Amino acid sequence: MSSAPVFRRLVQGDEAEARAFYADMGERSSGFFNVDKGNEKRTLEFFEGKRPDHVFYGMFEDGSLLALAFIWDVGRSVVWFGVAVRDGFQGRGLGKQITNGVLDECRADGHGGVLLRTHRDNIPAQKLYEACGFEHIGTHPSGELLYIYRFFR
Ligand SMILES: CC(C)(COP(=O)(O)OP(=O)(O)OC[C@H]1O[C@@H](n2cnc3c(N)ncnc32)[C@H](O)[C@@H]1OP(=O)(O)O)[C@@H](O)C(=O)NCCC(=O)NCCS
Repeated sequence: MSSAPVFRRLVQGDEAEARAFYADMGERSSGFFNVDKGNEKRTLEFFEGKRPDHVFYGMFEDGSLLALAFIWDVGRSVVWFGVAVRDGFQGRGLGKQITNGVLDECRADGHGGVLLRTHRDNIPAQKLYEACGFEHIGTHPSGELLYIYRFFR
């Protein structure tokens, strides 16, 4: 019997699960989340101690990493956010759970807001962000849609 997914920060011992998470990522998810393996590199650098301005989070079920999220620019009031759910586990509420978990931590840490960019064709991501209370505020110079979650309204 599987247990309920647990939300927590990633720690050094999670490297093998993080590698497995990216190894399972198919073309569609990679196209939205891991272009040129950028986020994979960013995540693996965390385990080398090279990302002091990032915090990584996971949803774990029976030891498996089913969703991964991170914030960066953590020393600033407004942080940037990224999220992906493991291929085969999308559409089950994990994206919403991990995003809300990160928002709760950012609120508790006194951040002013959370920014993100997403491809305009990424409808599931836009639905997720809007369901979690992000506002669409414009277009990033890259052409991606820009969203913000504000803690102080
Ligand atoms: C985008 C992503 C993180 C969403 O996570 P998820 O676990 O699949 O989403 P959830 O099951 O938590 O659903 C969250 C909301 O989005 C909606 N949603 C999810 N998938 C959807 C889809 N394919 N079409 C329409 N709506 C969708 C859900 O209905 C839900 O809304 P509700 O609470 O109002 O019912 C996930 O699909 C993913 O990892 N995609 C690949 C990587 C990626 O695109 N990352 C984001 C880069 S910006």
